[in-house]
Amino acid sequence: MRTPFEVSACGKVILLGEHAVVYGRPALAVPVCGLRAWVRAEPLPEGSGCWIAALDLPETIRLSTAPPDHPLAMAVRLALAHLGLPEPDLRLTLRSDLPIAGGLGSGASVSAALVRAIFRWAGRPADPEVVSALVYEVEKHHHGTPSGIDNTVIAYERPIRFVRGQPPVLLSIARPFTLVIADSGIPSPTRETVAAVRMGWEREPERYERLFDAIAALVREAEACLAAGRIEDLGPLLDANHQLLQELGVSSHHLDHLVRIAREAGALGAKLTGGGRGGNLIALVRPEQATSVAHALQAAGARAIYRTEIPATSPADPSSTR
Ligand code: PMV
Repeated sequence: MRTPFEVSACGKVILLGEHAVVYGRPALAVPVCGLRAWVRAEPLPEGSGCWIAALDLPETIRLSTAPPDHPLAMAVRLALAHLGLPEPDLRLTLRSDLPIAGGLGSGASVSAALVRAIFRWAGRPADPEVVSALVYEVEKHHHGTPSGIDNTVIAYERPIRFVRGQPPVLLSIARPFTLVIADSGIPSPTRETVAAVRMGWEREPERYERLFDAIAALVREAEACLAAGRIEDLGPLLDANHQLLQELGVSSHHLDHLVRIAREAGALGAKLTGGGRGGNLIALVRPEQATSVAHALQAAGARAIYRTEIPATSPADPSSTR
């Protein structure tokens, strides 16, 4: 019998551009390599079938009897179909560091880890482009009109500039920077905030298009700051993006309060990240301020505070997606 193995997929944060990215504008996203979804794969005796156990939910399903739209089963079925394989005799045990409905890409990360497990089981390389496309199919089913940014940044595990329907572009980051990520403690399904923005856009298309354009302008400026290593200049762009997200109606009093607290504690800039109305916020900090910003957020009621360093990258890097 084959030996058990473990695979994983990272979480992500959107630096700037969420929601506008659904409407064709660019967005910047970075992987959060220290927060991951993990899948342990253990071969089972012949005829056992494929079982998926999600430790955090907790839930165990059998692939052959799970409903067609079950997200975990769907990721495994799509990977098997892509490889032309029948149901394997395999137990897949899933655990995740990522909050569900928290704007850190939990759903896409879990799907990517499951897809990678099936590819590894089959002895086939899990090409990021293929992983991304398969995860996108799951995302489409469960999130309505996803832009594709989550599956892309998670499958490539690289900082990217993303435009819907286009291949991702690896970001050039001249200087590393530090983010404090803080969970507001309020789960907020992305499907709902995306639907709320759509209703607003249908009601007031010109106003929403103007807001999306303003966000796109910030994204372009931020890309230039990252490429030039002007990390300090990125802070006000995050603040401005948060304000535009407020105008889109996807912030909340609690998020606004936490964002304010982060700034008062010395963050260079702060904003909600992902769908909004709850979930997580990001604060850009000088490394020496990370602890005081984290403490201030915790004292203000944030849960699960996490610090991540985004390393410098260059498009000339052989790992470039282009
Ligand atoms: O909440 P998350 O992590 O799924 O991020 C969603 C980002 C949105 O722009 C709001 C939606 C999308 O599909 O791009």
